[in-house]
Order: sequence, then C-alpha cells, then structure tokens
Amino acid sequence: MFSDETAPLNKYVVLPKVELHRHLEGSLRLATMLDIARQHGVTVPVSLLNLSGLVQVQDQDPLTFSNFLDKFKTLRLFYKSPDVIHRVTAEAVEDAAKDNVRYLELRFTPVALSRAEGFPLHDVMDWVIASAREAAKKYKIKVGLIASVNRHESPELAEQVAWLAAGQMKNGLVGLDLAGNEAEFKSEPFYGLFKEARQAGLRITIHAGEWGPAQNVREAIENLGAERIGHGVRVMEDESVVSLARERGVAFEVCVTSNFQSGVVKTFESHPLPRMLENGLKVTVNTDDPSVSRITLAHEYQQVCERLNVPMDALKRSVLLAAESAFLGEPAKQELSASLKTELKR
Ligand code: ADE
Ligand code: ZN
Repeated sequence: MFSDETAPLNKYVVLPKVELHRHLEGSLRLATMLDIARQHGVTVPVSLLNLSGLVQVQDQDPLTFSNFLDKFKTLRLFYKSPDVIHRVTAEAVEDAAKDNVRYLELRFTPVALSRAEGFPLHDVMDWVIASAREAAKKYKIKVGLIASVNRHESPELAEQVAWLAAGQMKNGLVGLDLAGNEAEFKSEPFYGLFKEARQAGLRITIHAGEWGPAQNVREAIENLGAERIGHGVRVMEDESVVSLARERGVAFEVCVTSNFQSGVVKTFESHPLPRMLENGLKVTVNTDDPSVSRITLAHEYQQVCERLNVPMDALKRSVLLAAESAFLGEPAKQELSASLKTELKR
C-alpha cells in the first residue's frame, strides 16, 4: 500500500517517461555528497541540513537565477577523483531508471567536472561516457550524453570541449549545449564553435529564453542552429519567435520547478507551459537539476498535471514528442517511439 503522500505521485512514476534536459552536476544525491565530503575532506558543513542549503534550493531561498547558479559553485568542490565522477554518473542514471525514465539525455559540463582537481577535459569525458554506458546497461535504460559549455566561461575552453565531443560521437555522445548565465552573457562568442560542432554532426540544444528575452530563442535557432531549446519559456513574449519555432519544429525542454525556483515565473501557477501547448509549440517536460531542485521527473509530471491543469492525454503526447525530439538516429528513435506508444496505450 502507498501512503496518502505517495499514492498520487505513483501514477506519474509508473508512466514511462523520456527526459531530454537533465544536468549531471544538478543530479548528485545528498547522501553521496556527504560521503564524498567525509572521504575527501571537502570543506563544506558535514551535517545534511547545512550541506543541503549550499547545494539545493530551500523554501526560504531568494527565487533568483543567481541563487540557483550559486549552488553549482559549491557542487564543483565535490569532483575529487575519477571514482567520484564514476559514482555520481552511475547514480544519476540509476535514479532516472527508478523513476521509469526509458530514455535519458544526460548533459554534463566537462569544465565543471575537471576544474577542482585539474583533471584533463578528455579524461573527465571518458569517465562520464564509460560510467553512463555501464550504468545504462545495468539499469536497463537508454542514455544519450550531451556535452554542456557555459556562456559565462571561456569560449576557448568551450571550443576544446566541442572538439573532444565530436570525437566521442561513436561512444554515445550525441549533442552540444550552451548553458549558464543567460542574463549577463551573450551567445555570440560561441557562434563559430557551434557551427563547427553542427558540421561535425553533433546535435544542438541551447539554453535560451529562460533568464533572457524571446530574442535569445530566435538567436539560438538562427545563429546557433538549435534544434531544441532549453527552457525557452520567454518565447511567449514575442509572437514572431513563436511562429519561427513552430515553423522550424523546434522542441522546448521545459522545466517548471526550475523556472519557479530561479525566478523565471512569479508564481508556479502562472507558468506559460499551457499557453505554449495552446500555441502549437512542441513542449516536453523535464527536471533540469533534480537534486538542486529536490524533485524527480514524476514529480514534474504531477505538478504540470495538477497545478498547471494539463490533462494526462496531453502529458502522454509530450512523452511521445520527447521521444521524437531525441538526439537519436532514426532506427533507435523509431524503436523508442514504438515501444512507448504501445505502453502508453495500455
Ligand atoms: N546549469 C544548470 N542549470 C541551469 C539552468 N537552469 N540554466 C542555465 N544553466 C544551467
Ligand atoms: Zn538546464
């Protein structure tokens, strides 16, 4: 029997799901961070409650992008050894599998993982890729990896990441993402490297229209070659960009709790996801940073259904849409879509 608390959630846990937007660095279990802090002498408070305040959004926190991004500064202290990177990658994959995510596109930021101990970028990429592959097999989940670079960090380092990512396509690395501080940093310095990445065959998703205006969504589509947009919810501020996204068939990786916590929307209930659907945009539901936000994908589906009043049928369509928007080759994508269709009909 489920308790009153878990029974309503269970309906969303059992739903087979697809996650297109989840950051590895936002997926570390709190208990694991505590273990790492003890084993490696990370200088952070070693009580669960104190540590949580540093790496996870709290109810009393300011609802701002800077508070949200600050959590990642502390999180960078934890990437102490190859074993740590192996463990957090495997656990992120395990957690998604236990939440009935059938296909996970997990993005990771090589610069973040390499920074604390000065690990070479190509080593951290190898470690994440090998660990994700092994965990995918063990937990029977399909995983694609996306390399992320931050707007607020060096374009030269980003170029190295893009170049290394292109060399890892044969090992399950499928795409390149631009993340980070959209409020204060432009994407223009990254145009050239995204063009090269596209030419090398990497698929492109860009964080845009989250902490910046609708114009950034246009720029992501037209100048960076984005096939998908991370968040993108501020697209609703400009009808011409809504039309562009619709015409180009761009999919939106929407993350409602993250948007609320980082101040994109003033209240949860005013989130534009239902209006995006009404406007014929391709909307998918995602977590962004499950540990930082203290959520699961099932939780996000519940919130979208019960607080934003999106019917279950529309949610099921968004699972299929996410499968269709996956950065997978055609045969693998068809196979995923077909098995989800069968399951969702039951
Ligand atoms: N990195 C992790 N989460 C992010 C977000 N919501 N926006 C931009 N960069 C991020
Ligand atoms: Zn994100």
